[in-house]
Amino acid sequence: KIIYLNGEFLPEEGARVSVLDRGFLFGDGVYEVIPVFGGRPLRLAEHLDRLAHSLAETRIPDPLSRQGWTALFDELLSHNPGGDRSIYVQVTRGVAPREHAFPEAITPTVMAMVNPIRPLGDQVLAQGVAAVVIPDHRWARCDIKAITLLANVLARQEAVDSGATEAILVRNGLATEGAASNLFLVADGVIVTPPKDHSLLGGITRDLVVELAEANGLPVMETRIPEDSLQGAEEIWLTSSTREILPVTRLDGRRVGHGQPGPVWQRVHALYQDYKAH
Ligand code: PDD
Repeated sequence: KIIYLNGEFLPEEGARVSVLDRGFLFGDGVYEVIPVFGGRPLRLAEHLDRLAHSLAETRIPDPLSRQGWTALFDELLSHNPGGDRSIYVQVTRGVAPREHAFPEAITPTVMAMVNPIRPLGDQVLAQGVAAVVIPDHRWARCDIKAITLLANVLARQEAVDSGATEAILVRNGLATEGAASNLFLVADGVIVTPPKDHSLLGGITRDLVVELAEANGLPVMETRIPEDSLQGAEEIWLTSSTREILPVTRLDGRRVGHGQPGPVWQRVHALYQDYKAH
């Protein structure tokens, strides 16, 4: 495995960061995960836009131009061949003696690596996954893709501990998103997902799903989802770059709809697979 670190391509064992890195000390950094299907990064421009947003909002100077990022990813992929993969890229504020306020002269630490994407598997596609609903304990700027993920880690572990795949997070009575995924449901035949605001990450997969549904005449509404509308939903899905569109068929131990991946999911999943392949 070859890692990009601060301008160099290094074997994993040789890619080292100081213990004074502010990513390590404060979680002071941002990241992106970009899926690569058939050798091509999916929706690269949108991922780079979101990275620019995360950097701007955290006041970390963007270390590379868009062309620079694209060239870096191309070279990184050529060093790490394989099937479906994802690029993980992280930018921290950099290395400095520990002090909360920004140090004066500091250079961001840039790291990128490639990870395999495990296919969804026949069992998941045929039967869906289980999810649990838990309170959202994250901060107020969930639109920033910050590496500070303690609340997400604890939420996901709580899901796994109860035999589920993902946690659906609730804040102020609203279901916003998963620990590492966006939330959709189907109610009265309409596809519903919460509008993008500071309470959730504006997912690239989410946007693509909305776009594909609209382009194919499926009714979509970007509306807030009260927690109590989850149990009556016909279908629930969770979307992310690495897990595509997961049908949730059990919520807090109860069946969602008929307890099988639903017909609207089938349709949107097929549209997504088709989009990926072209
Ligand atoms: N997570 N919401 C949160 C909190 C996320 O962490 C993610 C993705 C998403 C989905 O966004 P996208 O469709 O752009 O992947 C929503 C990545 C995959 C991760 O942390 O590994």
